Amino acid sequence: MTSNFSLDPRVDRERFLQMAEEVAALAADWFDGEPDSPVLARLDGPTLRKRIERDLPRDAGQWDEILDDVRQDIMPGLRRNGNPGFLAYVSASAEPVAALADLLVSALNQNVTAWRSAPAAVEVERQVIGWLGEAIGYTGAAGILVSGGSAANLQGLCLAVARTDAAREQLVVYVSEQTHFSIAKSARVLGVGHVRCLETDSDLRLRGRSVAEAIAADRAAGLVPCCIAASVGTTNSGAIDALDELCEVAASNGVWLHIDGAYGAPALMLERYRSLRSFVARADS
Ligand SMILES: Cc1ncc(COP(=O)(O)O)c(C=O)c1O
Repeated sequence: MTSNFSLDPRVDRERFLQMAEEVAALAADWFDGEPDSPVLARLDGPTLRKRIERDLPRDAGQWDEILDDVRQDIMPGLRRNGNPGFLAYVSASAEPVAALADLLVSALNQNVTAWRSAPAAVEVERQVIGWLGEAIGYTGAAGILVSGGSAANLQGLCLAVARTDAAREQLVVYVSEQTHFSIAKSARVLGVGHVRCLETDSDLRLRGRSVAEAIAADRAAGLVPCCIAASVGTTNSGAIDALDELCEVAASNGVWLHIDGAYGAPALMLERYRSLRSFVARADS
C-alpha cells in the first residue's frame, strides 16, 4: 500500500528514511575525506564537462544511479574547503549540523514572505537577526536574512537610496579601492549615478578625510552624496576601515553609513575588537 507521503508513489515514509540514510552516509564520506583529499580536482575542464554532461532526462531516473553520479562524477570535481591546506579564500568547511538543518529547512519548505505565511519562521528570523546584532553590538537591529554578502550589500544600498528624493543619477556612493565589488554592482542595479572609489591609507583602510573631501567636491558639483560603504574586514586583507572617522563624516554630512561585515563582523564578538562595537552601533545598515 502506498501513502500520500510524496507525489512519487514509490517514496513512502520507510523509503524516505532509507534514502535519507544513504544521503547522510554520502555526506559523511565527504566530511571524512575532506582533510586528506586534494583541495582542487585534478581534472581539466573538457574532461569534467564530459563527465557531467547527460541527455535531458525523460524520467526521474534510478536513485542508486543518481547517488553514484554524485559520488563518482560530481564530488571529485569539487573544491575541498575543509582541507586544512585550503587557505586561499574566505570559504570555510561546511558545518555538519547545519547540513542536517538544511534538510529540515527543505522539508518544512516555508515562504518567509510575511507573518501570515509562516508565523514561526518569521519569528525565528526576527530572533536570529536580533541575536546577530546583539553579538556584534548592533542592538535593536531589524532586518531580514539574505543569501550572503552581495545580497546584504544590495539591501543596505537599497535602504540608503530609498531615503532620498533626489534623482538616482545625482546620487554618489563612497567606497575604497579595497571594497567588495558587490557594492559598486548594487549601485549600478539601483541606478545610482556615481561610485567614488577612494584611495586607502598604508594599512589599506578607508579614512574619513578622503571621504569628507570627496563629499565636499561632489556637493560643489551639484551631486548628492548618498552613502558611505565601509568595510569591517575587506576581502583582500581583512582591513577594517577607520570607523570612528567615517561615523563622524557620515553624521556631519547627513549621509547613510552602510557597513559591509560579510567577512569581518564576527570578529566583533571578540574582546579584542570590542571597542569597534560603539561605531558599528552608529551605522544605518
Ligand atoms: C567583504 C565582503 N563583502 C561581500 C562579499 C560577498 O559575499 P557573497 O559571496 O556571500 O555574496 C564578500 C565575499 O567574499 C566579502 O568578502
